[in-house]
Amino acid sequence: MLSKKSSDIRPSEITSESNYINRRDFIRAGAIVGGALIAPSGMSAVVPDTTLAKLSDVAVSPLSTDETPNSFEDIATYNNFYEFGLGKDDPHKYAEDFKTRPWTIEVSGEAEKTGTYNFDDFMRPFDLEERIYRMRCVEAWSMVIPWVGISLAEVVKHFQPTSKAQYVAFETLNDREQMPGVRGRSLDWPYREGLTIAEATNPLPILAVGIYGNSIPNQNGAPIRLVVPWKYGFKGIKSIVKIKFMSTRPKNSWNMAIPDEYGFYANVNPSVSHPRWSQARERRIGSGIFADKQETLMFNGYAEQVAHLYKDLDLRRNF
Ligand code: MTE
Repeated sequence: MLSKKSSDIRPSEITSESNYINRRDFIRAGAIVGGALIAPSGMSAVVPDTTLAKLSDVAVSPLSTDETPNSFEDIATYNNFYEFGLGKDDPHKYAEDFKTRPWTIEVSGEAEKTGTYNFDDFMRPFDLEERIYRMRCVEAWSMVIPWVGISLAEVVKHFQPTSKAQYVAFETLNDREQMPGVRGRSLDWPYREGLTIAEATNPLPILAVGIYGNSIPNQNGAPIRLVVPWKYGFKGIKSIVKIKFMSTRPKNSWNMAIPDEYGFYANVNPSVSHPRWSQARERRIGSGIFADKQETLMFNGYAEQVAHLYKDLDLRRNF
């Protein structure tokens, strides 16, 4: 990804009323996935405050792909995290001493419950699950990652968004002391992302706190980051400190930087090329330099679960 500055933001596009899921619908959406019932385990999510510590009470999710996950080394050494530099190997080099405790998450905006929570309190109401997801980066490479996280739909439900809430916005920590990349102007900091409420209450997205059964490495977005498997990787905002329920569409960093190349939706779509390269195929990291590229699937293979969210939307215009 290359960035150029621009103050231009595309005028917000309309999310139809039907995109807004009411509370009853998303409780149902959270409970039923492809006909399978995911029973809440009633466990509370406890994440040790050291990196790579074993996570306990992790339920296995029926939403996992059966593809072979990438090695831990691939996942933890080939990263985008511009706060720690632009190179793929910068984040693991420069995020090693990143302090992820104490950590607070501010929840604000159009919701019944708001406030600033320390990380443990934020996590307590939720259950940890392992979800092995295919991830597809806009740069035409992909990985399979065994995440451990909490359901974003459950998080949204917990904070009780009002009927005005049409979007959920997220922000990353913006700390010049700890994050060398933030001292430069590669992006307009803090890193920002957003989802519609309908997307955020779909059963697939998680807030990830672990990989391979252990707490998440700093370079992957410790202590908590978003994972939305049918969208390009840039939606997966790392090291989240703010969550805001909004009535209007939030800004997202890559769209702010290069609006002609990166949209708000960022759905994986092999038939809509990035202006500078095709999105039809992808290179699976770790498959070796002589391996054939594989075909990219619509919505990264998650069409059955999410295509209905966009049935009234022209995906060529709303990229
Ligand atoms: N979040 C923040 N705060 N800063 C970033 O630069 N990069 C995004 C996303 N989240 C980024 C971020 C991009 S472009 C990708 S592809 C994914 O993180 C990569 O996540 P990974 O390193 O865990 O694979």
